[in-house]
Formats: sequence, C-alpha cells, structure tokens
Amino acid sequence: MQRRQFLGSIAAASLFPRGGFAQSSQRRLTAAAHRQQILPEDYPDTEIWSFDAAFPGPELRARQGETLSVTVENALPESTSVHWHGLRLENEMDGVPGLTQDPIAPGEAFDYHFALPDAGTYWYHSHAKSMEQVERGLYGPLIIDENDPPDVDQDITLVLDDIRLQRDGTVASFDNFHDLSHAGRIGNLWLANGQIDPAYPLKRGERVRLRLISAANARVFRLGLQGFDGWIVALDGMPLSDQQPMPDELVLAPAQRIDLIVDVTTDDDEAFLITFERDGGYAIAHFPVTGPSAAARQIRAVLPPNPVFPIDLRNARTATLMIEGGAMGGMRAARFEGKELGARDLASRGVFWAINGEAGRPDTPLLDLSLGESARIGVANNTAFPHAMHLHGVHFSEVLADGRLGPLRDTILINPQETREIAFQAHNPGDWLFHCHMLAHHQAGMGTWIRVSA
Ligand code: C2O
Ligand code: CU
Repeated sequence: MQRRQFLGSIAAASLFPRGGFAQSSQRRLTAAAHRQQILPEDYPDTEIWSFDAAFPGPELRARQGETLSVTVENALPESTSVHWHGLRLENEMDGVPGLTQDPIAPGEAFDYHFALPDAGTYWYHSHAKSMEQVERGLYGPLIIDENDPPDVDQDITLVLDDIRLQRDGTVASFDNFHDLSHAGRIGNLWLANGQIDPAYPLKRGERVRLRLISAANARVFRLGLQGFDGWIVALDGMPLSDQQPMPDELVLAPAQRIDLIVDVTTDDDEAFLITFERDGGYAIAHFPVTGPSAAARQIRAVLPPNPVFPIDLRNARTATLMIEGGAMGGMRAARFEGKELGARDLASRGVFWAINGEAGRPDTPLLDLSLGESARIGVANNTAFPHAMHLHGVHFSEVLADGRLGPLRDTILINPQETREIAFQAHNPGDWLFHCHMLAHHQAGMGTWIRVSA
C-alpha cells in the first residue's frame, strides 16, 4: 500500500471493554454527563455526555428474532431521545421527537420495546439536538447476532468518530454557522471506540469479523485495512448476497456501517485500520499480530439474508428530492415554518439548506404511501457539499444505471452535483424521517419525511 504514514501510537494499548449482553429482558440506559480521558494522558480529561457513563455507550447485543426492551433515563440537563439507527422497527419506537414521540425531558424516562427481525450491525444515538448530543458522545453500537453466525475467531466492533476537542479537553462550542453552512462539523481527532488509535491483539491466521460503524457528525471516512485479506459481508447491517472483495479504499459516510470478514495474513507484527487523509494515511486503530505465518483460508462465508421486501420498480410511486443551499450553493429563498424567507433571513435563523424549496421538516410528507407499495425517489444534490441521506424505517436499494438494484442500505452518500435514485417497498407503517446525516445539515434545514399508511 502506498499512502503509508502513521501517526505515532499515542494511546495505551488497552483492549476496549466489551459491553454486556442485552437479552430479551429489560435493560436500562442512563444518559448523563461523565468525565473520560480522551486526549493523550498529559492533557486534561473531557466532559462527555454518554449512556451508562461509557463512551461510546455499552454495546447492546441481542439475537435476531428476540425482542429488545430498553428504558432510557434522562439525567442530562436537557431533553433527549434515542434512535435505533437502521432497525426496521415499530414507528412509535423510532425515537424522533416531534414525529414519533415527545422528547424525554430531564429526569424522565422512556420505554423502548421492539422486535428484532433483522440481524446485523446497527447503532443507537440521540435524535434530539443531534449535532450536539451525538458529538458530545450519546451513541453506542447495537449488534443483532444471526441465529447461525459465520465462524470467526474474533468479532470486533469499531465505532469510528471524529470529535472536535480543544487542548483543555472541552468539546469545542457548537455556536458555529460555518459548520451549518459548509461541510458540517468536522472533528480534529479520530477515535475508534472513544480512543485514539486503540490496539486489538490478533493472531496470524485468525479470522475476524470487523464491524465498522461511523458515528462521525460529518466526516466521510476513506479507510484501508492493511495486513488482512478479506471481503465485505454486509452494508448498513444488511447482508450482501454475494461476497464482495475488500477494496483498497472503503468509503464510510456518517451513520453507515460496513461488516467485513478478514483473515490476518500479514508477516509484520502489526496490522492497521487506516484513515486516508489529504496528507497521507493514519492509523485509526491497530492490531498487534503474533504467531507463526498463515495464509488466508479457502472458504469464504456469506451471511444469511434478512427478511426481503421485494421492490416493484415498474409500478412504484415516484418523487424527486432536490437538495439545495449551503455555501456556494446560491439558494435565494425557501419556505420555513410556513413562510417564504430570503436567504439572509434564513441564515439569521441558522437555516441554510432546503429540500424541494422547503427548509426544516415540512407539515406534509414527501410521499404518502400505502403499505406494501413501492416507491422510487430521485435525489439531486444541487449543492457544493456531499450529503449522507438516511431514510428511517426501511432499507432502500439504489436504482443503478443499468436498471438493476444495488445492495440494501439505510444511508446513501450523494456527492456534489450528483443525482441518484433509490427505491424501496413501503413495508413498515408510520411516519419516517428522511434527512441528511451530516448532523449540522439536518439541524440547518435538510430533512423531510414520508408516510406509510396501513
Ligand atoms: Cu441515525 Cu435520523 O438518524
Ligand atoms: Cu448534508
């Protein structure tokens, strides 16, 4: 691999403690402030907002087909809610204040309770003032195990983030119109599981399931794995039907997940997960390797499929979604809270983006679908920035240029001036948000919703 240049390993080589198992039984998560050492040891620690005084929050783990019950207690100074990102769950459990539930006020609790039809790699995060609350640390991994999981020696979850910290350890202020109107809140420190370049010891020849989750506010990670030989088995939680060889560069946009199965094949004493930046590649996590040399194994597993909801492209309802605004975007005006406002008025309210001429969540849905109906939505990014559009409640496929359907995803990265089309079956009744997961963009207007009527 060429672009090789590693940041010194600043953090102590400690294995991240794995979270407990969440059975079908009741689990509690408390959202509160706590202090954690995030900067290297000779810097001050950081006040983080997190679940159960852990950053990231504890890994919730359950088995496909089970039910998960989580009581979220709010011990924060402000309201919150929890969204179970990527789960195809009941609408009332989706955690969107003002759309599916009331916010959880300080001192109050909310009981989330839902079935788990799908296996895969998901995550949970605050969906209230999320640009700020997710950045402060209110997120954690959510893993649903297959009933017949692939045979691996280790199963490692890496929640990646880039946080913006100051030298005194504090989370940089959120009062920043530049983030809202440009690329979003890009951090200055890469973290894997809340640590700078943590270490995960491996043995040569071991087979590892790697679950990559991006909890970043806005950064699009370009990642590489060095020292492994492997393939991608799932995207955004959903198994791929065919093995896909591991590319040199893995693109992981905010909220997206990539599951890989990799064999440790290096003869060096370390393997790496690298983030490619403009000036080179840096280790975001590393893997000390021991043991006699070993080749990649022959058999390559794929994951069993999750329930399938076929898409009827021919009879699908269609909609288009035009994203505009942002710096260098030239948006003149948009409707906001029922009024047509000029760009300057919008900016004074911290609003910089619009979808189909409407900034903020409109009163009426982009589409009102009946249960079981298929839909196709063309998404045009008429701005100077990439956007990671996330649809709640269902997974969609991209309609590819040759008319075939791409893999199921819940978040799609759309580059500047690109138009992409997604399609899905409206199999899950309720009101579902459709928004940019660059969280500053969502806050600054980039969100709409669809209704699926039973
Ligand atoms: Cu991961 Cu609407 O969010
Ligand atoms: Cu965006």
